[in-house]
Amino acid sequence: MSHERMLRRADLRVAEGAAKVTDTFRLHYHLMPPAHWMNDPNGLVYFQGYYHVFYQHHPYGPQWGPMHWGHARTKDFITWEHLPMALAPSEDYDAGGCFSGSAVEKDGVLHLFYTGVREEGGKLIQVQCLATSRDGIRFRKDHRNPLITNFPPEGSVDFRDPKVWQHGGKWYMALGSGNDGRGKVLLYRSNDLSQWDYMGVAAKSDGTQGTIWECPDLFPLGDKHVLLVSPMGTEPRRVLYAVGEMDYEVGKFQAETWGELDKGPDFYAPQTFFGTDRRIMLAWMQSWEGEIPSQKHNWAGALTLPRELMLDSARRLQIRPLPELKRLRADLAFASDLVLQGETRILPSCSLQERGLEAVLRVDLAGTSAAQFGIAFGEGIRVGVAKGDWRVYLDTTRASRGHRGRYSCKLSSGQEKLEIRIFLDRSSVELFGAGEAACLTARVYPSSPELVPQVFARGGVLKASLELWSLSKRG
Ligand code: FRU
Repeated sequence: MSHERMLRRADLRVAEGAAKVTDTFRLHYHLMPPAHWMNDPNGLVYFQGYYHVFYQHHPYGPQWGPMHWGHARTKDFITWEHLPMALAPSEDYDAGGCFSGSAVEKDGVLHLFYTGVREEGGKLIQVQCLATSRDGIRFRKDHRNPLITNFPPEGSVDFRDPKVWQHGGKWYMALGSGNDGRGKVLLYRSNDLSQWDYMGVAAKSDGTQGTIWECPDLFPLGDKHVLLVSPMGTEPRRVLYAVGEMDYEVGKFQAETWGELDKGPDFYAPQTFFGTDRRIMLAWMQSWEGEIPSQKHNWAGALTLPRELMLDSARRLQIRPLPELKRLRADLAFASDLVLQGETRILPSCSLQERGLEAVLRVDLAGTSAAQFGIAFGEGIRVGVAKGDWRVYLDTTRASRGHRGRYSCKLSSGQEKLEIRIFLDRSSVELFGAGEAACLTARVYPSSPELVPQVFARGGVLKASLELWSLSKRG
């Protein structure tokens, strides 16, 4: 079947599926597929006045299956427009699926790089492919595909997720791979985006950082470079980042510091792009492990809020929600200074049925003696700070569905003020502000959308202020 027919058939199935999607757990202000399965964000790019987001999509059901590229665009990160399917498996070289990849613009043409997969002898053969478009909506696969057919000796059959960028007049492509039990980033270089030369291993695991690195991303930030990798073979699976130096002559990235990008259980395969004037990141807000309750309602997977990446003056990675997300704030449901001593205060109830919620908790740490304090949102969503060990935690151990656990980030000791922002949607929580690069992202599935938030302080005094905002796209 031709690529065009495959795309139309897939679009039709998504439209049919959307009619059967029930509201339960649907998110209000995050990007989700209209129906069926979504995983990694792909091809993030600013093109002809829009931010484009593609994503791994199985249009035929709410489980993972032969991968297509779904497509949406936005001008403001608040309102998303769903567009026709961009890529479908249609050729011998991608008959098994169009896996993750990235996008760049050259001479007014949008170039999508992706991994074509096919099964052969029980293996998933992975090759690197190109599709282009002038309008950013209809994509044609390149007749020279696949552009890269064989993995180099330092790699393995796991050889995927091309991230392409430009530097000093040349194009570079980072590919995720690994062998000998070590995840690796393999680097290629090109003058024209079609002929690619292998440069070598740009970075690899120290032996404890995973066996295969998926979805690598390597980009300049301030006067440094940052590497992101999504490792397979670690327990738990956590996305890693490194801040360091990139030598483009020899094709090597030298890591100076390593860390985890998000300590929550539902954050994977992030991708960044430059936007127009800043480094923006989105990730898959779900995970390969565990139950996904929304599958029963005919959909699965969403993307995180868009986040901005920056380095502070000490070259530490900082992550914050895009400032324009403040436009989601519809009503201020509660705002007050709080002084609490060994008590719990019940706040006005709110509902996640129609709207999301943002809580902004500003704590005067110097004036706070409480050993533990925080805010609970009912049924298994509890955010707290343990002052003794300087940790911010998200506790979902009492959740009835989804991942149950206590996830935490370390604060810098000696910190005098703390500002935590917590975004709740119908089935997600994202927490920002808990120290270096530290975010906590989890899918949560409260059985009822009605919440009664409570602030608590134990073993001393809490001095803080709290705002609760209801969030709405229509706001
Ligand atoms: C990461 C990943 C990628 C691959 C894609 C397949 O979540 O495994 O490595 O390209 O998902 O859907």
